[in-house]
Amino acid sequence: MWDALRNHFDDTKDRRFETLVDSERAADFSVQAGDMLLDYAKTNIDAKTRALLIDLLETTGVAAKRDAMFAGAPINETEGRAVLHTALRNLDGDAVLVDGVDVMPEVLATLDRMEGFADELRSGAFAGQGGKITDVINIGIGGSDLGPAMAVRTLAPYHDGPRCHFVSNVDPADIAQVLRGCDPATTLVIVASKTFTTIETMTNAQTAKAWMEQTVADPAAQFVALSTSDEKTAAFGIDATRVFGFEDWVGGRYSMWGPIGLSLMIGIGAPAFRAFLRGAQSMDRHFKTAEWSENMPALLALTGIWHNQICGYATRAVLPYDNNLARLPAYLQQLEMESNGKRVSMDGVDLTVNSGPVVWGEPGTNGQHAFYQLIHQGTRVVPCEFLVAARGHEDDLHHQHQLLVANCLAQSEALMKGRDLDEARGKVADRFAGDELDRQARHRLFPGNRPSVTIAYPQLDPFTLGQIVALYEHRVFVEGAVLGINSYDQWGVELGKELATALQPVVEGTRSADDKDGSTAALVGFLQKNGVQPLRLNRAVPFNKYLTQRTG
Ligand code: F6P
Repeated sequence: MWDALRNHFDDTKDRRFETLVDSERAADFSVQAGDMLLDYAKTNIDAKTRALLIDLLETTGVAAKRDAMFAGAPINETEGRAVLHTALRNLDGDAVLVDGVDVMPEVLATLDRMEGFADELRSGAFAGQGGKITDVINIGIGGSDLGPAMAVRTLAPYHDGPRCHFVSNVDPADIAQVLRGCDPATTLVIVASKTFTTIETMTNAQTAKAWMEQTVADPAAQFVALSTSDEKTAAFGIDATRVFGFEDWVGGRYSMWGPIGLSLMIGIGAPAFRAFLRGAQSMDRHFKTAEWSENMPALLALTGIWHNQICGYATRAVLPYDNNLARLPAYLQQLEMESNGKRVSMDGVDLTVNSGPVVWGEPGTNGQHAFYQLIHQGTRVVPCEFLVAARGHEDDLHHQHQLLVANCLAQSEALMKGRDLDEARGKVADRFAGDELDRQARHRLFPGNRPSVTIAYPQLDPFTLGQIVALYEHRVFVEGAVLGINSYDQWGVELGKELATALQPVVEGTRSADDKDGSTAALVGFLQKNGVQPLRLNRAVPFNKYLTQRTG
């Protein structure tokens, strides 16, 4: 099947796909899920390519794998776990069995508890020592940060609760900056960690506790934990009534639908959070029931497979023409690259095709004034993924939104059409002649024939964000299933963590660097000579100076 696709690529790679794009193609090479549209007409995919790609889904058994995921089978084989983030948005409560036990009563009970807590906090019934909570700090990293941080930013127009801040990096600059702007007496700290062992999160949580202890009599009362480990949250001193638990069948990067989404729920309120879940649930239903040729996550994944594994385009740019989606590329970097950046298949055999692409991006129009130069004229092809809403939220600024939309559509058009040498000559013929005209024109030539897809929707509301995130989750699933890899483990992050633990005493100077390679030892030496500080929380740090100066 891969060979058939490669052969088809060889047969079609030199044509200009612009010639394929008539009005019928726009209808035939686009798909709708609810009121969301995916247009993949501006690619070199034709009916034969699509048929071959769909064959790939059939021959790799994606439908059976999808059904196994939704049914709670342990498809995360290297960790022996089910993969059931979809259960967290299964709001109608149909039974989902893990080892023969229906998990839905527990899921819905936790959602109710979260809603009760969020309501109390938003109304002031749950208060800090200094009164109503004004600020919420979510301390977490990776999946315990990127999802809620992205969603809180995206849904800013719906935010009517306390301010939400996110601290993830072990770099003290991150937490110091956030703490400086908060009053401990009216701040709630959420320690978000599936394992409750992650060094960055636990270090930041201790720092926040020490900060609060300066002025608050019972700091633990203003801490909440989101974790799978009751023992560890208790050991940290967080009362069980403020622990929101979840099970190991929720992967970190798939976890914002449950307790890890608490900061979002506090920010936008429980009904809007439910709308977010409903949006995701609607995408789940679409993914489960739509024919492959009409299935948005499958087609998005197949377009990606065509571009990455077949055409050999190593990266993909995600370009939201929606400033509130500014953190979407960062969120997708974990979702996609931690899931599908693997080198062996489920049975441990080296992959014979590339794993998932490098994903990157920035919102438009900002990116246009930065890296679009390379996208349009660089020697490497970067498939682009545009996201755009028909309407913004700024009612009196429609004209600016229209300009934004025009820019988005212009970019995909420019990528496809390009500008040939004759046209480029025409642009400068009034200023240059002869060889110089040619030379100047060549700098102004756009090769075009560069593929893009566009995801369009009416407005970026909570329901739509749920659709978008679930769309990308299922895209990752389909790509992983086709490649035969495990999208749900992340062994690739372990080595660095182990070495960091071993290096900490070396950096501190309590262990010698003799057993380190020459480069690492020399870097340690340089940093020590230049005053590297111990990594462990130093209680002697003057909090007054670094942390308690409020900046308002
Ligand atoms: O190091 C990778 C990772 O395990 C991610 O998969 C996860 O989202 C992140 O760390 C944080 O983990 P935890 O929620 O357990 O603190």
